[in-house]
Amino acid sequence: MRAKTPPMGWMSWNLCGREVNETIIRGVADALVTSGMAVIGYEYVCIDDHWQGGRDALGRLYPCIKKFPSGIKALADYVHERGLKLGIYSDAAEKTCGGEVASLGFEKQDARTFAAWEVDYLKYDYCYAPEDRATAVERYTTMGRALENCGREIVFAACEWGGRRPWEWAKSAGAQVWRTTFDIRDVWETPTYNTRQNGILNALERNTELAAFAEPGGWNDPDMLVVGLYGGGQEWMCPDGLPHSNETEYRSQMSLWCLMAAPLFATNDLRTMTDSTREILTNPEVIAINQDALGAQAVRTHRLISSVDVWQKPLTHGDRAIGILNRSEEARTVEILPGLPAGHAPGFQFQNLTFPATMLGVTPEHRVRDVWQRKDLGAIREKITLEIEPHETKLLCLAQA
Ligand code: GLA
Repeated sequence: MRAKTPPMGWMSWNLCGREVNETIIRGVADALVTSGMAVIGYEYVCIDDHWQGGRDALGRLYPCIKKFPSGIKALADYVHERGLKLGIYSDAAEKTCGGEVASLGFEKQDARTFAAWEVDYLKYDYCYAPEDRATAVERYTTMGRALENCGREIVFAACEWGGRRPWEWAKSAGAQVWRTTFDIRDVWETPTYNTRQNGILNALERNTELAAFAEPGGWNDPDMLVVGLYGGGQEWMCPDGLPHSNETEYRSQMSLWCLMAAPLFATNDLRTMTDSTREILTNPEVIAINQDALGAQAVRTHRLISSVDVWQKPLTHGDRAIGILNRSEEARTVEILPGLPAGHAPGFQFQNLTFPATMLGVTPEHRVRDVWQRKDLGAIREKITLEIEPHETKLLCLAQA
């Protein structure tokens, strides 16, 4: 099975835009290894749009000679030598989103070309294609079949941004990943959700509803991580002068994307990142939640008043990850109690943000661990008090004692 757990890696778009080239890709591959990211599971180094040069007289794709003078096969070799995998990009129309040559009508030939180059991942976009769903199903299925028959195991990531409900058909079209949202920006929240501006919270909202569709071999993709960009990268990453995300918000994106079993593609400059960015990307207990073999996407089980949301992700062995997000602009105190306060019906939302452990489907014997702090908080039979900063997500792991 391809993509048994959510794919992890790095993607060039947010940092490089049009300016991607083989020197950057090689540098990022090296950085994946030296930073410890490779060991923890980040394996795909993905070239997004703007690698293309054109098609030759025989219809074969070739890369831009200036940006990729050594060719894609040599780059794949470089990446493979480091134990990593290479990703590439095309589009189900005549042109890509950036106006480069794309794959419509050349699906079989392009799939064979990618296989010959030893590519391992294909992001397949949908700019310049008709709006309707039937055409999308047909075009993704054509490329999906071409990849299945190309002689190489290539992960297929559909990127039509969710407009045609790909969670209902992308898997049978042959995809293991489907984008559920428009492009993410390096901001916490934008006032509206649209093609131009879409923050971490906006993407979260769309993707949260789709928990039922995620499973091993088929993942909802709320787009790339913006962790560590800090306003760097392409100018469109902070639209309309909105401030870039802060460290707490980056840690929240990581927590929430892990809870949602989302593909994890970093997009910051791994060659120059700070230690704190590296720590956000490489916390092994956080990654373990994302990569859990059950492959369940967290369900939002509570929306408490005062803008606190609770997610739960079942893990193997009856363990459970819990995320508690403070969406408000003030710190909140959340108490987890071992039972229901007298007089309250199950499901009641408490003014003081107390909610009972029995509602979390765990027993008093479960032990609670704060995953980011790497600290055991005790058994659930005792009251647990959590202070949560604005936009912070507490990430807890509840394990059978
Ligand atoms: C679309 C996709 C992005 C990126 C660009 C490249 O906007 O959604 O993720 O691949 O195209 O042009």
